[in-house]
This record gives sequence, structure tokens and C-alpha cells, in this order.
Amino acid sequence: MFFNSRSVGLVLGAIIAVVTTLFLSLVPGISDIALLVALGISFSCSYLLVMSTMEFLVFRELGKMYEVLDKLHADDFSLIEEQVGESTNPIKLANKKIMSYASAKRKEIADLKRMEVYRREFLADVSHELKTPIFAAQGFVHTLLDGALEDEVIAKRFLKKAAKSLDGLDNMVHNLLSISQLESGDAKLVVERYDLREQVEEIFDQLENKADKKYVSLGFSEDTAPEVLVYADRRRIGHVMTNLIVNAIKYQDNKAGLVEVSLKEEDGKILVKVTDNGFGIPEEDVKRIFERFYRVEKSRAKSKGGNGLGLAIVRHILQAHGTQCFVKSSVGLGSTFSFYLSTEYFEEHDVQTELDKEEQNI
Ligand SMILES: Nc1ncnc2c1ncn2[C@@H]1O[C@H](COP(=O)(O)OP(=O)(O)O)[C@@H](O)[C@H]1O
Ligand SMILES: [Mg+2]
Repeated sequence: MFFNSRSVGLVLGAIIAVVTTLFLSLVPGISDIALLVALGISFSCSYLLVMSTMEFLVFRELGKMYEVLDKLHADDFSLIEEQVGESTNPIKLANKKIMSYASAKRKEIADLKRMEVYRREFLADVSHELKTPIFAAQGFVHTLLDGALEDEVIAKRFLKKAAKSLDGLDNMVHNLLSISQLESGDAKLVVERYDLREQVEEIFDQLENKADKKYVSLGFSEDTAPEVLVYADRRRIGHVMTNLIVNAIKYQDNKAGLVEVSLKEEDGKILVKVTDNGFGIPEEDVKRIFERFYRVEKSRAKSKGGNGLGLAIVRHILQAHGTQCFVKSSVGLGSTFSFYLSTEYFEEHDVQTELDKEEQNI
């Protein structure tokens, strides 16, 4: 027999009807018809009562519980949110509690799994990237020890190469530290009001030599105002601008290279644009250049000393400012990197939450 509200109603109804009729039969002088009527009435009443109680209070809720469990199993959290609403039925309440607890745990497990994959990949990437400069420096030092030290010219050349590898290593470790601090939220933003144009002018001065060597000229667009005030973390936005401008200088071999920074007010915010007329980025790579260690053309970037962390840092810093970087690029013509900065004070945004949001949007 099936264990459902109807069968329970039938069994209990029959028992109640039989017991009632047996008791009534003890009454002296009661007629058979009266007993039959009492049997019928007590059976149908108790059947209906038991069945509806069981159906509405127990079985339906149990059914829902199973349905939710199935959904949980399939990582579908839609039904749980539907169950919001007040109820006094203890089974319903217990059901709701268990399900919200289970879904929270399930989400937690999914997050932990994702983090685990992230950590594994990160470790593999870092070891892989560290290997190259360490091997190179190791090779130069060993060659020196094996006899190259005798020749002063060769010795100097090898030492310079070893030093360059170690500088690259130092740079990478610094970049990795910045990324991990930004991701863990340890690095708090220091938001202040300052003149962004003045800051970019300082960066232009610092990069002048680098740009001259590559015949690249640095400048502002005509519509950039003499003073552009923003609320931001001065030091970190300095990193963002430096990384973008260095990339704009680095990824081109144009004899009339141009890097133009435009700072314009738009909808009460400042729109920052860094435009170059360099190599450009193929469409399939544009989506990925903000990933750590991602380089468009490994050999091209490597020969230029890049480690693929610059734009990952840019993305994190902008996320902490509650904004993001957009890229427009066409191969052979050049690229434009743009983002908005606030002109009003704001609270720092959590990088991890922004990363999660971004991931859900993909
Ligand atoms: N302005 C640009 N023009 C062309 N390619 C660019 C530009 N900026 C970035 N890229 C590409 O995006 C990749 C990632 O940039 P980034 O994270 O700064 O790393 P890298 O350390 O290699 O410079 C670079 O390797 C380069 O191929
Ligand atoms: Mg770079």
C-alpha cells in the first residue's frame, strides 16, 4: 500500500469508525440502521479530517522538501528564494530553515571549490613564471663560475644579464604582492581629492626617456582642461596611469608614435582615456588581457620584459575604486584604454565581491 495522505486517511478513518460503532453497539436498544449511519458518518468525517490534515500539513511540505533537495543537488537555488513568506506551520518552518542552511552550505562549498581551483592555477602560473628568470640568472652565474670570470668584458656582460633577470624577478614579486593585497582587501585605499592632470604630467616626465628612445611623443588631448580634480587613491591611480602609458609606449614600433591622454568630464565623472597608434590587440585577446600573466604574443611581450601582470593590477585597482577599464583596439591601428573616476568622495569597494560579480556576469 502507498504511504500517502489518502491511505493514511482510509486506515485511520476505518479504525475510528469501527471503534465508534463498537462503543455505540453497547448502548442498549440501538438499531442496526443507527449503527450503520454512525459507521458511515464517523468514517467519512474522520477520513476527510485525517486526509486533509495529512495532505496540507505534512505530505505537501515533505514533497516540497524533496523537490528542494533535488534542486539543491542540481545546484539550482531558485526554489529556495520562492519559499520566503510567513508561516506558522512548524514543518514548513523547519523545511525553510533546513533548506536555507543547506543552500548556504552548498554555495559555500561551490565558492571554496572555485577558490581551490584559483589557488592551484595561481601557484602553477607563479612557479612557471618564476622559473624563467631564475634559470637565466642561474645560467649566467654558473657560466661565470666556470671560467667566464677571467675575461673582464664577458664577465661584465654576463653580470649585467644576470642583474636584468633578477630585476625582472623583483618586479614580478612586487606586482604579485600588490595583486594579493588588493584581492585580500589588506591594501586600503587612501581616497583624496587631487589634480589628475598634474599627476599625468609627472608620469610623462618620468617616461620621457623611454618614449624618446622609441620615437613616441606623449601628450594630452586638446579638450583636456588645465586642472582635472578627482577623488581617488593618488598612489594607486598613479600605478594605473603608469602601467597604461608604459604599455602604450612599449607595444609599438611606429616611427611617429603617439600616446595621447584625454581627461574629460562626462555625466559628473571624469572619463580617462589613454590612446596609442601602436600594434593594437587582436579581438580574441582583448577579453583576456586583464588576466594575470596573460600576454598577447608571448615572445613579443617577453622580449620587452613584460610579465603580464600590469593590466591585472590595473583591473584590481579600478575595481577597488568601483570602476572598470574598457578597451577598444584594432590591429595595426592602435588601442584606447578608458575608465571613469569619481569627482565625489566614495567608500572603497571590495575587490573580491567585484570579482565575484564579474564572474557571474560572464
Ligand atoms: N597599448 C597596448 N597595445 C598593444 N598591446 C597591448 C597594449 N597594452 C597591453 N597590451 C597587450 O596586453 C598584454 C598584457 O599587458 P600587461 O598586463 O601590461 O602585461 P605586460 O607585462 O606584458 O606589459 C601585453 O602583453 C600586450 O600584449
Ligand atoms: Mg604592461
